[in-house]
This record gives sequence, C-alpha cells and structure tokens, in this order.
Amino acid sequence: MRRERLLLHHDRSNGKLIDAKPFVDGINWATGYDLATGRPIENPEARFYKTGKPFIAIPGALGAHNWHPMSYNPATGLVYIPAQQIPQGYLQDMTELDKRKVVGFNIGSSLTATMLPDDKAAYRAAVAATTGRLVAFDPRSGKVAWAVDHPAAWNGGTMTTAGNLVFQGTSTGRFRAYAADTGKQLLDLDMQSGIVSAPSTFRVGGVQYIAFQTSKGGAFPLVAGVAGGVTRKVPNIPRLVVMKIGGTVKLPAPPASAALAWNPPPQFGTLAQVTAGKAHFGRYCIVCHGDSAIGNGFTPDLRVSGTLATADAWKGVVLDGMLKDRGMVSFAKVLTPADAEALRAYVIDRSNWTKANLPDAAAPMGR
Ligand code: HEC
Repeated sequence: MRRERLLLHHDRSNGKLIDAKPFVDGINWATGYDLATGRPIENPEARFYKTGKPFIAIPGALGAHNWHPMSYNPATGLVYIPAQQIPQGYLQDMTELDKRKVVGFNIGSSLTATMLPDDKAAYRAAVAATTGRLVAFDPRSGKVAWAVDHPAAWNGGTMTTAGNLVFQGTSTGRFRAYAADTGKQLLDLDMQSGIVSAPSTFRVGGVQYIAFQTSKGGAFPLVAGVAGGVTRKVPNIPRLVVMKIGGTVKLPAPPASAALAWNPPPQFGTLAQVTAGKAHFGRYCIVCHGDSAIGNGFTPDLRVSGTLATADAWKGVVLDGMLKDRGMVSFAKVLTPADAEALRAYVIDRSNWTKANLPDAAAPMGR
C-alpha cells in the first residue's frame, strides 16, 4: 500500500520525521502516524489476508496523490496537491485462478475482488466515491488552507507563480487558475479533452507563456471502467496548448461524437466459463481494457467489439495476434483456446449486464 495520503514533514538537516498530517479525509487503513518509529498506526482490518475478510481501502493502491506534480509557493508557504479518492477492494487469494502467475497482473490480493461485483448499487457507489480535489496544504500547521473539489479522479498536476496564481487542468477538460492564497477561481476554460499533465511557465522576449498538454490517460483511466465517472463523456485529444495574455488563437471545433451501436450477442457461456473469464480478464486484460470491459476511450470498448460474434474472430485477435502491430499482442503463451472462449463469454456477459443495468453510466465510448 502506498502512504502518500499523509504529508511527511522531515528535518532537512538530518532527515528526522517532524510531523505527518493527513491532506485528505476518509482515510480508513490507518489512524495516524507514530512519529517515534516512523510507521503508520494501522487499522487491523486493513490486513485482509490476516482477517480473511474483504477490506475496501481509502485511498486504494493509487494513493490520495499519484505522480501528477504538486507545487510549492514560497510566498504563501502552501503546497498545492492534486489529490484524489480512489477506493480499492482487497480480499485474500480465494481461488486457483487468483494465485500468483509468472506473467500477468499480480497484486497480492484476489484479482476478482478488486473488480466490481454484479450489483448496480456497487457501480453507482464506486462512481460516487471516486473523486478529485485540489488541496492547498500548509506544512507549518499541518492543516488544509483551502481546497477545491473535482467530480472525478486523476486530475492534472499543479503549477504556482510569484503572481499569486495556481494553475491546474482537470480530467473533465477544464483549465483553471486560482488565487494561490485564497483558492478563489479566476479562470475556467473548456479544453475539449481531459488533462493529466502539469502546466509550465516561461518567458521569451519579455512575454510570459503558460504551456500544458491536453490528453487523458495513464494507469487509472485505463483500468477505471465505470469509475471514470463524468470523464467517460470527455474525449481524449492530445494537444500542446501555449497561452499568453492577449492571445487570440481559438481551438478548432471539437470532433463530433456519435453514440456507438450497442448490440451484444446473446450469452453462450456457462456460469463456470463466465467466472473463469472474469479471473483471466483481471489477470491479463483489465490493465488496458478497464474494469468489466468498460473502456474509457483509449483502447476499443470490448463490449461492442465485432470480434465477440464468433469464437474464430475473437481468437484471431486474442490468441493469433492479428492486431499485434497496433499494440494488441497475442496471449497464446498464457491462454488456451478454452480460456479465450471463457473470456469471450465474460465480455458478452458484461456487455449484456451493463446495457441492462447501467445504460447511461457505462455507455460504450469511442476512441
Ligand atoms: C497492453 C495493453 C493491452 C492488453 C493488456 C490487452 N489489450 Fe486488447 N487491445 C489493446 C489495444 C491497444 C487494442 C487496439 C488495437 C487496434 O488499434 O486495433 C486492443 C484490441 C483488442 C481487441 C479488438 C477489439 C476491436 O474490435 O477492435 C480485442 C478483442 C482485445 N483487444 C481483447 C483483449 C483481451 C481478451 C485481453 C486480455 C487477454 C486484452 N485485449 C489485453 C491493448 C491491450
């Protein structure tokens, strides 16, 4: 588990731990930090492999803050953290299919337990619980000075300037500036695409510029499935944007988006096939195709793939590597034809179930 949910404050002359205070709410796997040992004070329920019971950790493995750069402003004394809440379920390894394998995703917990169960309320709860927050944290007091909530996780890094500004792009496609001391929003521009990068600033010939890249992406949106939330409606448009005061260039019109046809084939598989397919999917596919095969616009949404129609078409891609030059390699080294069929049964199951139960939140997204 990661520990970034706390901001650790060390003495820079000798590395001694001075303080550790939370910068987000809702943390449930630890109650605080033991300053003498430098270890978190754990909630025993978080050791799911000792209790044998499932545990939903807040934050999950992606942390309350991931790689998105934070920034520090010496004038305000505050650090600006692109924080988030992404809960994650853990459970002791349960079945043979969950055991560690040489190739594939190994997370020391049941793979299927980290995936959403067949329960509409669980999907809705996952969307509601997955959020983002820009936190202005004061390391001197260990308190949050101000914060701005975002409706979805995995927002962009922050940049702060001597002119008392903080800039951040959001996963919902906004580029914003706030007053660094109070958090008052001063700018809010529609960028057409989600943003995960951090802005930078530079001066040429006396003119100051702000540059950032738009584009969604990264570990979370790939696996997120429905927990991508409102970002599932925001396209992915990779673009370098450079701004200056008085700039006049306008973005081109956003691409037209059309709803994808969503007509899954009827289920052919047995419950045993669907169950095995789910475990294989968690091991080999989820990292690129998303929880429950719900895509977020980077890879094809498998629930509407034409290859679902026949065993041969599916096998052609999954085992024979027909799309290997486009980034979809063959899994023949780790999956048998029967495993591939189990996967097809699972994806057809997900397509039918999400269409019946979550037609809006899980609607397929084009690339
Ligand atoms: C490392 C990332 C990655 C992993 C892991 C991965 N895929 Fe893919 N997959 C892709 C990409 C990228 C494409 C799109 C290729 C293209 O542009 O045609 C794709 C395409 C596909 C397609 C074709 C969809 C269509 O209609 O165009 C199928 C079917 C598919 N993947 C199934 C699977 C299955 C099943 C697994 C797990 C065994 C899996 N993939 C694992 C990246 C991945």
